[in-house]
Amino acid sequence: MSSLKFSDVTLKFGGISALNNVSFEVKPKTLYAIIGPNGAGKTSIFNCISGIYRPTEGSIHYGDSDIKYLRPDQVANLGIARTFQNIELFENMTVLDNILIGAHRHLNYGPISSLIFSNKTRKSELEARKIAEDIIDFLEIEQFRYSYIMSLPYGVQKRVEIGRALAMDPDLILLDEPAAGMNNEETEDIARFIIDIHEEMKKTVILVDHDMNMVMDIAEEVMVLNFGEKLAEGKPEEIVKDSKVIEAYLGVSEL
Ligand SMILES: Nc1ncnc2c1ncn2[C@@H]1O[C@H](COP(=O)(O)OP(=O)(O)OP(=O)(O)O)[C@@H](O)[C@H]1O
Ligand SMILES: [Mg+2]
Repeated sequence: MSSLKFSDVTLKFGGISALNNVSFEVKPKTLYAIIGPNGAGKTSIFNCISGIYRPTEGSIHYGDSDIKYLRPDQVANLGIARTFQNIELFENMTVLDNILIGAHRHLNYGPISSLIFSNKTRKSELEARKIAEDIIDFLEIEQFRYSYIMSLPYGVQKRVEIGRALAMDPDLILLDEPAAGMNNEETEDIARFIIDIHEEMKKTVILVDHDMNMVMDIAEEVMVLNFGEKLAEGKPEEIVKDSKVIEAYLGVSEL
């Protein structure tokens, strides 16, 4: 397992800096949260890590690998998976098939070997199915196994996205607002899954969310972003008392 190290990253879009000289490090097996008002740059950090955006300046390392120039598939192959703020699933496929896609990636199920229905392919198929079924049980979405994504409530879709990311068996998982738009009960369920992903599956988790109660309850370390700049970093109990943080959040309805 590796540390993720974000060093002096600046990300510019034209004249606007989405991120300005941001540095932080996430040690293996930490549950690290990133919070901040709308437009603070939280999703941009995930996009930089996962190879969707390329920082204008600075570096990003995962263990010994410099990942700044990698493509999204190369980043995924290093064991980094993510979910998206706006769900990105195959809408006209079932829950099981969406999660199987993640499992197949992990099992390195090449297109050539799947053409020849070999024993190896058959074994991979069974293995992928087992991985997917275990994740479906874990996320308590058994009854939706054969449902099409587009027919499902938003909260279930959010779980399926976590499931697809988990099926890749990543060491590091990036969760972009997994509890957005959820009621209290659904948020509690998601919080429980995140704790299990961290404690039982022993994964490193970076969590972005607006639900301050959840973040402060479950995160081990919190970074606060504001207008693309790192405002504070520390344990949840330090962050809630930080005067800069309180000031930046004054008038923000989520708090
Ligand atoms: N592809 C892009 N092109 C231009 N500007 C962008 C792009 N992506 C992000 N930005 C800008 O960068 C800033 C940070 O956006 P980002 O999506 O990272 O914020 P966020 O903290 O995730 O916000 P939210 O809480 O609303 O999800 C915003 O000003 C946004 O408009
Ligand atoms: Mg965002």
